[in-house]
Amino acid sequence: MSVLEIKNLHVSIEDKEILKGVNLMLKTGEIAAIMGPNGTGKSTLSAAIMGNPNYEVTEGEILLDGENILELEVDERARLGLFLAMQYPSEIPGITNAEFMRAAMNAGKEDKDKISVRDFITKLDQKMALLGMKEEMAERYLNEGFSGGEKKRNEILQLLMLEPRFALLDEVDSGLDIDALRVVSKGVNEMRGEGFGAMIITHYQRLLNYIRPDVVHVMMDGRVVLSGGPELADRLEKEGYSTIAEELGIDYKEEV
Ligand SMILES: Nc1ncnc2c1ncn2[C@@H]1O[C@H](COP(=O)(O)OP(=O)(O)O)[C@@H](O)[C@H]1O
Ligand SMILES: [Mg+2]
Repeated sequence: MSVLEIKNLHVSIEDKEILKGVNLMLKTGEIAAIMGPNGTGKSTLSAAIMGNPNYEVTEGEILLDGENILELEVDERARLGLFLAMQYPSEIPGITNAEFMRAAMNAGKEDKDKISVRDFITKLDQKMALLGMKEEMAERYLNEGFSGGEKKRNEILQLLMLEPRFALLDEVDSGLDIDALRVVSKGVNEMRGEGFGAMIITHYQRLLNYIRPDVVHVMMDGRVVLSGGPELADRLEKEGYSTIAEELGIDYKEEV
C-alpha cells in the first residue's frame, strides 16, 4: 500500500494565504472525495500536491510513503505516480493527443522500458472504446477546440493510459451531461483497485452516486474541516455548506 500524506499544508498565491493548514491522507485502494464551496482552495490543494510552481508552499509537508516530495518538480512527481486532471485543462496546439500521452508514458524511462508504438496503439484503442471516444480524438491537437465534455473525457483517457498510483481529479464532472458523467465515472471505476488511490474534487454529490467514495472530506476556508463516510456527501447535498459551517463555527456565506 502507498500513502500520500499532507501535513499542515500552507500555500500562498501571490502572497495571499489560500491553504491554511490542510491535513489529509490518501491511500491506495481508497477513493476520497473532497467537497467544499467555491473558492475554498480545492484546486489550490491539487495544484500544490502536483507541484505547480505558481503555488508557494510556506509551511507543512507532502509525504509519499514517508518521503517528502515538496522539492520535486511536476515531472518528477508524475514519474512517482502522481496524476492531476485539471479543472481547466490547457490547450497545447501542435502536439497531438496521442503524441502527448505516449511522451508522458515514456518520460524518464529507459528505452527498454518504453511502451512500443504497437502496444501503445492497442492500449489507446481499448481505452478510447471504453470511454466511447471517436478515434479522431487521438490525432487532434491536445485539447484544442475540444468541448468541455471532450476535455473531461480526455483527462480520464490520460488517467487510463498512465495508470498512476494517485490521481487528483479536479471537478472532472463539471459541465458534463448525464451520459458523459456515466462515462467519466466508468473510467475512474475501472482504475479502482489495491494499487490506485484517488482524490476526487467535486462540489456536487451527483458524481458520487456513480463513484462511491470510501471517505469524504469537507474543505472550507483553506482547511479540511470535517471528514466522514459517503453519508457525509448525502448530508451536504441536503443541508448545504452553511449548516455545517454554523455547527463548526466557521464564517461562511453562501454565494447567491
Ligand atoms: N492564480 C491565482 N491568482 C490569485 N488568486 C487565486 C489564483 N488561483 C486561485 N486564487 C484564489 O484562491 C482561492 C482558492 O481558489 P481555488 O483553489 O481555485 O478554490 P476552489 O477550487 O475550491 O474553488 C480563491 O479565492 C481564488 O480567487
Ligand atoms: Mg476549483
